[in-house]
Amino acid sequence: MPITSGLIPIGKQAFLDFTKTVRENVGLALDDSKEYLLDSRLSPIAKVSGYENYAALIQHLNASPVGSLHWQSFEALLTNETMFFRDEHFFRGLIEIAIPSLINKNKNNKKLHIWCTSVSTGQEAYSLAILLKEHFPELSAWDTKIYASDVCNSAITKARAGVFNAVEIQRGLSPELKQKYFKVDRDGFYVADPCLKKMIHFFNVNLIENLNEIQSFDLILIRNVLIYFSPETKKSVLTKIYSKLLDEESFLMLGASESLIGDVTFTPHRVGKFSFFKKKPL
Ligand SMILES: C[S@@+](CC[C@H](N)C(=O)[O-])C[C@H]1O[C@@H](n2cnc3c(N)ncnc32)[C@H](O)[C@@H]1O
Repeated sequence: MPITSGLIPIGKQAFLDFTKTVRENVGLALDDSKEYLLDSRLSPIAKVSGYENYAALIQHLNASPVGSLHWQSFEALLTNETMFFRDEHFFRGLIEIAIPSLINKNKNNKKLHIWCTSVSTGQEAYSLAILLKEHFPELSAWDTKIYASDVCNSAITKARAGVFNAVEIQRGLSPELKQKYFKVDRDGFYVADPCLKKMIHFFNVNLIENLNEIQSFDLILIRNVLIYFSPETKKSVLTKIYSKLLDEESFLMLGASESLIGDVTFTPHRVGKFSFFKKKPL
C-alpha cells in the first residue's frame, strides 16, 4: 500500500527501509506522520542530484551502501533550529547555580570543562562563552574550555566560522552584547570576536556512535536533541553521557521541554525554574 505525499507515491517498504537507515546512522526517529519532511527536505537534493523526485532519490539510497549522498540527505533531515541564549531560565540558572557551584568544586585545580553535545550552528556555545566572560571573569585565569559538537558537518562548519546574518544575530542577543562581541564585516555579516572563538573548540560527534574518545566534563548540555530520538536511542545516549560526567557534582542539562522520566541513573534537581540533573552513584 503506497504512502502518498502530494502526488508522489513512495512505497511503504521504501519508507520503512529509508527511515531505518536514518535511525541507524543519526538516531532520528521518523514515523509515517513525518513523510512530508522527506518530501520538503529531500526534494531539493533530488533535483540537484538528477533524480526525478524525492521518492526516486530514496529508491536509489535504499539500493546503495551508505555514502555521501546519504549523509547529505541525513543532514537535510536534521532540525538545526537554535538561537542565542535560548531559554532564559537555563542561562539564569547557570549564572546563579551551576557555574558558582562548579567554581567552588574546582577551586583547587582551576579547571572547567564544558561540552555542548548538539550545538547546531554554534549560538549555544557562543552564548556560554559570553556568559562566562560577562559574569565570571576570574575564569579567564583558569583552564576553561567549551567543547561544542554536532553530527551535522555543515552546522559545525558554520559554527566554527562564527559568522551570523542580521536575522540570526538578533535572535536572543541584546544590542549591547552584539556590539561588544561581534564585528560587522563588509557584507553585513556579524563575526564573533576572537576572544570567544578562542574559548570554544568545535568538532564533529555523532551521539549514537561510541564516545570512547571523548573525555569527561563538569557540565554537559544535551539540549533539544533527545526529542528527536526513539526511547531506546535516548536511553543508550544517556548511558554514554553518564560516563562522561566527571563526578556526582557535575551537571547535566536538557532542553526546557525535555525530561528524564523513568531514568534511574540521574537525579533530577529543580531550583525555581532551573532544572538540571546530577548522576547517581551506580
Ligand atoms: C534543535 S537543534 C538544538 C541546538 C541547540 N542545542 C539548542 O538547544 O538550541 C538539534 C541539534 O541536534 C543535532 N543532532 C541530531 N542528531 C544528532 C546526533 N545523532 N548526534 C549529535 N547531534 C545530533 C542536530 O544536527 C541539531 O543541530
